[in-house]
Amino acid sequence: MTKLVILEYPDPRLRTRAEPVTEVDAALRQLADDMIETMYAAKGIGLAATQVDVHKRLLVIDVSAAHDQPQLFINPHIIAREGQDCVQEGCLSLPGIYDKVPRSTKVRVRALGRDGKPFELDAEGLAAVCIQHEMDHLEGKVFVDYLSELKRLLIRRRLAKERRQRTNLREARAGVPAL
Ligand code: NI
Repeated sequence: MTKLVILEYPDPRLRTRAEPVTEVDAALRQLADDMIETMYAAKGIGLAATQVDVHKRLLVIDVSAAHDQPQLFINPHIIAREGQDCVQEGCLSLPGIYDKVPRSTKVRVRALGRDGKPFELDAEGLAAVCIQHEMDHLEGKVFVDYLSELKRLLIRRRLAKERRQRTNLREARAGVPAL
């Protein structure tokens, strides 16, 4: 398995709308496995293909306490939703950023599984939030799009500053003078 590189906001590639998966084959299953490994390595509970710069409609989540129950959704659709709540969210593409976003509290999802066969699943709580968050990625949307322009500006500044600090740290460790 391969750990993939996660795109970070405001990378314009995160704005790409993903294409439907036309064939669930060995290559797609390999991609799903790599996404699951990448999600676990980053200590995330969800990852959309968009975030690893693959613009196909699939996502993985694992909201189990032991992080041992990965779920794969290919070509997911929400066919029913219920309730609304504002829940604190984070995103592997925006490390360290958390804010409240309005989501449906319950969703019924139809998708294809690992075997390419359709299934339906009722999700609520964290799983429902996570599925909606990852499905937004497939539309080229990130959770901070729900926030005000001012908040987004501050978030972009903070992420840029942290990226600079990470680069400086890497260069210092490598013995390269940080400029
Ligand atoms: Ni995300």
